[in-house]
Amino acid sequence: MNRVLSPPVMPDAFEAHHADVNGIRLCYVRGGSGDPIVLLHGWPQTWWAWRQVIPALAARGRTVIVPDLRGAGGSEKATGGYGKANQAEDIRQLVRGLGFDRVDLVGHDIGGMVAYAYACAHPGEVKRLVLVDLLLPALGLEPFMDPARDGSFHFGFFMVPDLAESLIEGREDAFFGWWFRRSLGQPDAMSSEGIRHYARIYAGHEALAAGFGHYRTLLQDIQHDRPFATMKLPMPVLAVAGERSVGAKLADGLRPATSNLRSVVLPACGHFVPEERPRELSRLLVEFLELDAVGASQAAPVHPISTRGLPMPYALPALPYAYEALEPVIDGETMRLHHDKHHHYVDALNKALGPHPELQGKTIEDLMRGLDGVPEEIRTQVRNQGGGHANHQLFWKIMAPPGQGGGGEPDGDLAKQVNADFGSLQGMKDAFAEAAAKRFGSGWVFLLFDPKAGKLEIATTASQDSALLLGKPALLGNDLWEHAYYLKHQNRKPEYLKAWWDVVNWPYVGERLAGIHAGKQQL
Ligand SMILES: [Fe+2]
Repeated sequence: MNRVLSPPVMPDAFEAHHADVNGIRLCYVRGGSGDPIVLLHGWPQTWWAWRQVIPALAARGRTVIVPDLRGAGGSEKATGGYGKANQAEDIRQLVRGLGFDRVDLVGHDIGGMVAYAYACAHPGEVKRLVLVDLLLPALGLEPFMDPARDGSFHFGFFMVPDLAESLIEGREDAFFGWWFRRSLGQPDAMSSEGIRHYARIYAGHEALAAGFGHYRTLLQDIQHDRPFATMKLPMPVLAVAGERSVGAKLADGLRPATSNLRSVVLPACGHFVPEERPRELSRLLVEFLELDAVGASQAAPVHPISTRGLPMPYALPALPYAYEALEPVIDGETMRLHHDKHHHYVDALNKALGPHPELQGKTIEDLMRGLDGVPEEIRTQVRNQGGGHANHQLFWKIMAPPGQGGGGEPDGDLAKQVNADFGSLQGMKDAFAEAAAKRFGSGWVFLLFDPKAGKLEIATTASQDSALLLGKPALLGNDLWEHAYYLKHQNRKPEYLKAWWDVVNWPYVGERLAGIHAGKQQL
């Protein structure tokens, strides 16, 4: 029996539909209009896992297509066909039946395996690929399936025919409650109502067996995907993982099989990213999907992706690397405190803008550049909190772990520009250090590019005044507040300033310069 279950909440302007594809009937939710994006859920979930993410994509002019995978939710409980290549064909036939021949593809968990299989089989039909918290067959999954290699027990348990469904049937609330709690980054990251919703959807022998069907093909999936592991996907790929789940392993596995990989590890996040961190994931998706040709054409081992701001409510952006990743230059505890505790400017900024709906549609760039037009009673607050948000957003992005984008020297146009304006890279660093030393108290030091003069220049601001107030776009900036370095470097600010160059992400800074030349670079 196939059940069409009413989800508790359907986002506005989204509707459920059915389609007959690849020999089965799929349920899918659709909304918005524009270029298509397909989001694939994981186990034990349905399209509903994406409910807090899809409105932002529709609002950015996308046709958003969110299927229930074969066997899940309202889709047919097929007795077979759970191989990821076959499921990719399910989704491809759905996409083509809706009149689209090229899509952006996002997949979480099992859905990520299906998305990857789709991209491998039809690379010309996938514009961009986003993989969210999983390990892929032939690219890191095998050790994760082996408890003797620090993997998880559940693969073997789920893969034995008829075992798991026989034991769990009638105990679904207990099992799924335990399952979600073990996999969340924080115990309250998902509501108990949401967990019970999934327990109800997967309840019963047939639904449980269909869910475990996704696992029972994994050995075949590994065999199938092995040849693809030695090739490189041509499209830009974004890897998003929870720090308390697969973490850096997702990007580590993908690196040899991709030509343009960007990676984000969300601090303190567990496995269920679309529901644990929907706002951050929405931002990451929007920013990645809207990258222009400049951003999409260049690869870097670790690559921050924010190139433009979004309107309020402003949110703390995720670090594009782990807290400890910048060691030994900046220690993990400093990064944890700096990012999680000091970058709280967004809350005060949102509060200040609360009574001013006329300002709430502005990006942080527009808000800073239009500071003179902000009502006087909140102008200082917006200047300080908005500046702090903008500066730190830039700061996280222009750093990368040493050897993974961080450190070394600029190349290409950026290197030529530095040499032309400062004589050498060392000349620029010396001027940067000198300007920073002259800034009394807390503030920021920036490397700017003046598009009119075609020259680089160095400037500082006091307190949290934004680089956006300087009238020229910033390529990079360093935080001169003691909270940025004091735990490790204490009162030795010059030592910190000198060491900091080992974490400057020159490939990304070079992209920022290219973006300015193209008239596209914002924050
Ligand atoms: Fe700071």
